[in-house]
Amino acid sequence: MTTPWWKTGVNYEIYPRSFQDTDGDGVGDLKGIIQHLDYLNDGTPNSLGVDAIWLTPFYPSPFYDFGYDVKDYCGIDPMFGTMEDFDTLIEKAHKRGIKIVIDLVFDHTSHRHPWFIESRLSKDSPKRDWYIWKDTRPNNWKAFFGGSAWTYDKETDQYYLHSFLPEQPDLNWRNRDVREALFDIVRFWMDKGVDGFRLDVINFIYKDREYRSNPFCFGRRPYEMQHHIYDRNQPEAHQALQELRQLVDLYGEKMLVGEIALDKGEDSTVASAFYGKNNDELHLAFNFEFLNCSWKAKAFRKAVDLWESSLPPGGWPNYVLSNHDMPRHYSRYARWGHTEKRAKIAAMMLLTLRGTPFLYYGEEIGMRNVRVPRWKFQDPVGKRYWPFHPGRDEERTPMQWNTNDNAGFTIGQPWLPLSRDYKKNNVQNQLADPDSLLSFYRRLIWLRKKIPTLLTGDYRVVENSADDYCYTYLREDKDGRYLIALNFSSRILDLNLASGLSATGQLILSTLTADQDNICLNPLKLCGNEGMLIKLK
Ligand code: NOJ
Repeated sequence: MTTPWWKTGVNYEIYPRSFQDTDGDGVGDLKGIIQHLDYLNDGTPNSLGVDAIWLTPFYPSPFYDFGYDVKDYCGIDPMFGTMEDFDTLIEKAHKRGIKIVIDLVFDHTSHRHPWFIESRLSKDSPKRDWYIWKDTRPNNWKAFFGGSAWTYDKETDQYYLHSFLPEQPDLNWRNRDVREALFDIVRFWMDKGVDGFRLDVINFIYKDREYRSNPFCFGRRPYEMQHHIYDRNQPEAHQALQELRQLVDLYGEKMLVGEIALDKGEDSTVASAFYGKNNDELHLAFNFEFLNCSWKAKAFRKAVDLWESSLPPGGWPNYVLSNHDMPRHYSRYARWGHTEKRAKIAAMMLLTLRGTPFLYYGEEIGMRNVRVPRWKFQDPVGKRYWPFHPGRDEERTPMQWNTNDNAGFTIGQPWLPLSRDYKKNNVQNQLADPDSLLSFYRRLIWLRKKIPTLLTGDYRVVENSADDYCYTYLREDKDGRYLIALNFSSRILDLNLASGLSATGQLILSTLTADQDNICLNPLKLCGNEGMLIKLK
């Protein structure tokens, strides 16, 4: 049996608004993505070499939450192009061996979705029960983006539930017609040939049947001042996901990767539950632990160990360093200098651990969070919570392609400002520089493809004499044994490794040098902020 692509492939998240604009309106579009397919993977190590792209929502939307408020799940917003463009994208991506993963926002719709418009008309509307309506606010639930989760609707004198903005009413998954309608959407896209789905906040879809109030806890903002035990993670979600899994499995090798939003104090074990006890729900549930790890060997090691031990039998891990909701890791790890070196170590870890890696556009060139002046804020989170939360615009700024105006992203006025460093830090410059972060990502990704042990081999921690500073692990199977040693500190280390390893190895890749020599493992010498991939003899 061959290993499915979603286990071995490198995924690349694209925020279409910010990737490439081709029509001058300052917002990226599907044609822009098509334009850069060769950059992503042209079949040679000159390209980045990713195997799949995940597109965040491109559907028709009023954009209160930048596309996570969908008003037609089977369309393309004119801002991003047409269905013809999408078909071309699939065709051209597939020609290059790139899979297409799309985002499904099934917890809620836009308030402008025809279903909600109909539901809102009257209490007797055939779609009334497609959303969650109550005569009074039945509980203390808060909306993730602020305020109560219940909004009063004057027309019919009732309240409706929304876990996010009032413009994002929650669907009622307990209604079978709703589930059927959503599953039809899945069929529609699979018939078009998409290869997988990223399921937005999929642990929110069911709410407590009795609508009990969440218990209080200490937190900074009202939403964080309750434990979300009744508005998330309900047992019924598992049954629904099993049905969804059965549906997508009918279409062959598709991927369901779910976003499991975590409550304060929760860890990745909550996410691993969504693989299903029998590994029959999501193929992958995002593991967000790295997004919160401080730059410490032990923090990452602990996150990996927890994840590896909590997955159900047969469950496949995944890792992510950055995404469109969290500050970019290049900025997170920038505090004490050595950022470029750290970014290479982080990349080596992401791409050599056992599990599916997810990259976020621009991380391969070390894009940083960009300070956005308040008057240019777009994200509802920033608008509401500044100065306590700057919002998510900073990690969503346009891709830096070259030294042209606006980094070649647009000939118009970009929807968000570009990083001021773009003349220096861009794809064009980094492609030409063999020591750049981009060249390192390319080398690593193409190397990975050539070494099956890195794709499917077992993972095992190796104890070392400097555990506080260095994270060392093995990837091994019948074809080979590889040691990965990541020095998270600036010290030079002479590492003694747990016994049982060979005395020498061959350096395959270092984050600092181009050397590929034989190397002594007893002790193993690592420079400060150096990562090594070593083939053991
Ligand atoms: C999670 C998405 O990643 C985020 O961007 C969005 O705002 C919320 N879900 C609501 O859909």
